[in-house]
Amino acid sequence: MKKIVLGIASISIIIVAIAQKKKPAPKKIDTPMASIERGHAVYIKECMSCHQEDGGGVPHLNPPLYENQDINNDKKKIISIVLKGMSDRVPIEGEYYSNSMASHAYLTNQEIADVLSYVRSSFGNHASIITPDEVKAVRGVKKK
Ligand code: HEC
Repeated sequence: MKKIVLGIASISIIIVAIAQKKKPAPKKIDTPMASIERGHAVYIKECMSCHQEDGGGVPHLNPPLYENQDINNDKKKIISIVLKGMSDRVPIEGEYYSNSMASHAYLTNQEIADVLSYVRSSFGNHASIITPDEVKAVRGVKKK
């Protein structure tokens, strides 16, 4: 009798284990707010040294990231600048900046989408978020 009870107990444990394994992991829902929050962390690590915490930049060296038409209106251009860097020496909102921005192509599409979503919704900017697919389209090759 004891053996049967033990047998049933172990079978039910196995059944429960199988049932739990089959249960799909709950799908994570990403939100614009979550993207912007992750983007803030990327900004601190990758961009803040030049563009400063408040996005104000450094006069004549690094441009500010606000009151700037490209940041609010030209997603493709700013994605491309993060991917390829910029040392064009063309005026930005009428000013020249002498520092050079290196390529940040080593960041994932998600990280670039997050950081630009953060920039486009910070420092007084009120533009929509950028998705990893939009970064992927500009990059032109597959990367996470
Ligand atoms: C080494 C300093 C440096 C770092 C780090 C840096 N940038 Fe820049 N960034 C610059 C400079 C300098 C320019 C302007 C270059 C020029 O005028 O040729 C620029 C230009 C830009 C522009 C274009 C502005 C416009 O209106 O054309 C954007 C957008 C930008 N940076 C975003 C970022 C983001 C986002 C990061 C972090 C992922 C970043 N930068 C990291 C120095 C930097």
